[in-house]
Amino acid sequence: MSEIVINGGRRLEGELTVQGAKNSVLPVLAATILCQGECVVHNCPKISDVETSVKILARLGCKCLRDNNDVLVDSRDIAGNEIPEDLMREMRSSVVFLGAVIGRVGKAVISSPGGCELGPRPIDLHLSSLKKMGVEITEEHGFIYCNAPQGVKAAEITLGFPSVGATENIILAAATAEGTTVIHNAAREPEISDLADFLNSAGARICGCGSDTIYIKGVKRLRGTEHTIIPDRIVAATYMACTAVTGGKIKMDGIMPSHMIAMLSVFRESGCNIEASGKSLVITCEKGLIRVPTVRSLTYPGFPTDAGPIIISMLTLAKGTSVFVENIFENRFRYVDELKRLGAKITTEGRSAIIEGTERLLGASCKCTDLRGGAALVVAGLSAKGTTVINEIHHIERGYEDIVENLKKLNADIKLV
Ligand code: UD1
Repeated sequence: MSEIVINGGRRLEGELTVQGAKNSVLPVLAATILCQGECVVHNCPKISDVETSVKILARLGCKCLRDNNDVLVDSRDIAGNEIPEDLMREMRSSVVFLGAVIGRVGKAVISSPGGCELGPRPIDLHLSSLKKMGVEITEEHGFIYCNAPQGVKAAEITLGFPSVGATENIILAAATAEGTTVIHNAAREPEISDLADFLNSAGARICGCGSDTIYIKGVKRLRGTEHTIIPDRIVAATYMACTAVTGGKIKMDGIMPSHMIAMLSVFRESGCNIEASGKSLVITCEKGLIRVPTVRSLTYPGFPTDAGPIIISMLTLAKGTSVFVENIFENRFRYVDELKRLGAKITTEGRSAIIEGTERLLGASCKCTDLRGGAALVVAGLSAKGTTVINEIHHIERGYEDIVENLKKLNADIKLV
């Protein structure tokens, strides 16, 4: 079992190119199933969630080849329709394969996603939307069987909540369905637009992404294509928090500041100086961190739930008391007890975390409870006095490419043991 060991207190400085977005690459890899030709996906981060997605594709009968940050998929000979249970357990977001498999093969089987580290992870919106599109769904012994004997049909769907996963699944199922599907109250996340850009480059006709109404005019066939994944806004925010807690200065390239407006404003309010231009950004935090007005996680363009743990970790070192309200997931504060081992002063009440800033954290042994909670421990460990040992880092490896090497290059005293 590997662990990350950090001797905290070193000021971060240097330059970094940010990896491709995890939340974009997974639905795009699922979408390659719909394409009858070779797809080349560039800027795929080397993270375990991408490996899991490639394994799912391979088990479905697709030819896959990984070449550095490119993934090649040829799904012309797709043979299966079952998302393997073991891989579904490894990665809840594999539910996004459902829309793609049903769209291509007309039937699909997945195991029930159940709960996850963040609390219950229902997929009722995914399933009710697919039903509207003519998919017959039965649930038996923990498996969900989806069948579209007459093919998937277009529908007009109003989501009760702008779910990212449900919006993606509807887009995938509708891309080659008969007729025009309309999604009202759709998710507006940049990763949805990236998925649509990929599908459109393969011949799909999708418009309205980025707004709350998306139109998908079904086409007969999608062809092979080439696509570059957008940068990961949550990973970018993680390196920014790492820099801020060490009073450092870094330049990040290959990012999209326009996808990060809500986060950038919180960083600025906390005392960081940010200069963004084009696809790069310089962050400095020389005068120390200060409390911020209450931060609430919301759907895009609001503050992302995934950046909550990272910002909370940073605010443990801010002067004054801050409050973070988690509105998306019910149980997203499990990592807080781990941060407390380093001396963080945080209390949680229902969906709120109250963070009382302290001058210094102290290195300790701790463990990751989930992906972003793990990243929060790295942020804390970089600033803490003494040695921090982080266990269960497979959570971090799900979403961060070369985080240890990258931080080392930025002057951190960090190693993988
Ligand atoms: C969510 C985040 C996304 C993040 C991802 C990974 C939001 C809106 N979505 O996407 O930004 O990258 O986690 O951490 O911030 N829900 C239902 N029924 C459903 C689907 C969802 O009740 O069928 C509820 C969930 O329980 C949750 C909320 O809707 O409370 C958000 O769900 P959704 O956007 O679907 O989650 P993800 O797609 O996992």
